[in-house]
Amino acid sequence: MIRDVLRMGDGRLLVRSKEVTEFDTKELHALLADMRDTMAYMNGAGLAAPQIGVPLRVVIFGAQNLRSGDRGDIPETTLINPVVEPIGLLTTEDWEGCLSVPGLRGRVPRYEKVRYRGFDVTGNTVDRLVDGFHARVVQHECDHLDGVLYPMRIRDFNSFGFVDVLFPDAAIQDD
Ligand code: NI
Repeated sequence: MIRDVLRMGDGRLLVRSKEVTEFDTKELHALLADMRDTMAYMNGAGLAAPQIGVPLRVVIFGAQNLRSGDRGDIPETTLINPVVEPIGLLTTEDWEGCLSVPGLRGRVPRYEKVRYRGFDVTGNTVDRLVDGFHARVVQHECDHLDGVLYPMRIRDFNSFGFVDVLFPDAAIQDD
């Protein structure tokens, strides 16, 4: 079921979400089905459970997204109770958007390379070493679990604005 996505200004986006304690439950499968439906409908690169008002440490990302462009494909991933650890100190800035901040884009510094660990819906371990856009998306989605939205990480507000103003020649994007 497609759910409403909370937008910036809603206090529910600003709280720390809680760990999932039981895997492979009917409720968890239903939550993930709703998240996938919502992400696909909104044409997002990823979605965190608190964005649909569910304060649990669950994110999805990858696959259907059209936003990655030539920045590489990301496998369709469910990540529960994630831990993200930077590998090295190198950070890079690139454009980000967010379904909770519709119509806007900003340049955000992120670690270039990270290791992330967590669990899938049945409780199997996920453990990956990634870089580039994949690493960026993971950091963005996991930030949502700690109540952090990407504008809070922007350093230079000269590169924050409406997508149709910033990129007038680009194809119109959903958010
Ligand atoms: Ni987001």
